[in-house]
Amino acid sequence: MVTTEQSRGSWNSKLGFILAAAGSAVGLGNIWAFPSKVADNGGAAFIVVYLICCFIIGLPVMVAELSVGRYSRKNPVGALKSVSKHWIAPVTGAWGILCGVMILSFYLVVAGWTTGYIFEEIFYFAGFPEIASWFGALDNGLKNAIFSVLFMLTTISVITGGVSNGIEKATKFMMPVLIAILVIMIVYVLTLEGSGDGLRVYLQPDFSMINADLVLSAMGQAFFSLSLGMGALITYGSYISKKQNLVESATYVTLSDVGIAFLAGFLIIPAMYVAQASGVEIMDADGNLAASTTLVFNVLPEMFHNMGVGGVLAGVMFFLLLGMAALTSTISLLEVPVSYAIDEHNISRKKAAWGIGGAIMLLAVIVSFNINLIGVLDLIFSTVGLPLGGLMISLVVGYLWTSNEAIQEISSGFPGIKDSWIAPLWTIAIKVICPIIIGLVFITTLYSLFF
Ligand code: TRP
Repeated sequence: MVTTEQSRGSWNSKLGFILAAAGSAVGLGNIWAFPSKVADNGGAAFIVVYLICCFIIGLPVMVAELSVGRYSRKNPVGALKSVSKHWIAPVTGAWGILCGVMILSFYLVVAGWTTGYIFEEIFYFAGFPEIASWFGALDNGLKNAIFSVLFMLTTISVITGGVSNGIEKATKFMMPVLIAILVIMIVYVLTLEGSGDGLRVYLQPDFSMINADLVLSAMGQAFFSLSLGMGALITYGSYISKKQNLVESATYVTLSDVGIAFLAGFLIIPAMYVAQASGVEIMDADGNLAASTTLVFNVLPEMFHNMGVGGVLAGVMFFLLLGMAALTSTISLLEVPVSYAIDEHNISRKKAAWGIGGAIMLLAVIVSFNINLIGVLDLIFSTVGLPLGGLMISLVVGYLWTSNEAIQEISSGFPGIKDSWIAPLWTIAIKVICPIIIGLVFITTLYSLFF
């Protein structure tokens, strides 16, 4: 199949790619997972480790993914195959696609919880508490299935629109709206009683909490939040123009992802303490913050309910925001297997989106009725799976394709890189630092499991 820029699809503008990639990065990972992991892991101590992971490992891997993608103009399997004949190359791509499919199958359920809560808020304030709690029940399998299927149908309809018309248009509109809603909500929450306690927990580090578990969790979170390790950015990179500066764009994407996660913390953690001030139980028996996965969904609605009429507006806005952030992420998760089917099996975009999307929808229905699977799938395919994918990508790019070839590709759009300090620094990062740190974290985690 001919894969010129025209026939394959491409971003319309530099900003178009940055927004789409930031849209992929910013999602439930930032607003749902990040604040709860911070709360679970000693507040600011987690943030410090997380930031190190994002900039020392995440950013170099992101540049690596973008460069392979743009060089080959292919999906992760095709892209890695085209830079190396070694068997590990297509295996890395295939592992990535598997991780993406499995992540999407539970991500849809959480995204479905989010959209369900839009209705929960509306019915609660309309004076129908029973209907409201049906929409809000996290273990309501039927409701979960309906909402995750609806979410997938929305995702598929954007994907069938293609790259610039579908993905780029949708994210260009949604990203700015999202930031605006987030800021308004923070300003509001910080005026409420109890928010000061939350701020203290969020910003005061307790470094004694740092251990192997925390580091694995922070690293997994960095990969998940930046959408790295499974080839989403190989795929998005394959639509970038040769004139674009990959290092600069990757830096913008990383900064906006980290920035929005950090912002979301200013909303969620103070909000939890506002909820506590109004009588909601947020600590468990051991004095730790209550279960992280349900935090946003159990604590925040309570706060909205206690806010009076303003609460309906805030509640609907918040869950709408979370839903939008999730949509720009499910789009990128589905685009990866779809681009694989288009490139490698000559299937039309429409057929691929419906066929693969439909299959993942079935998986999501299974997860809908068994929400305990979410934690298991998250552990295998994101916390472990993504850094593992990132490790393999850095080895394939650094040693098999070689970092010199990659820098040659990056220099298109950034001719100065060859003579700047960025080239040697990135080379060391991708060949030495990333593989060693990821490997070490895995070994320490395994060790702490058994001893
Ligand atoms: N980054 C998204 C979030 O934070 C999730 C996501 C989208 C993702 N695409 C991905 C995670 C690709 C890993 C790989 O919610």
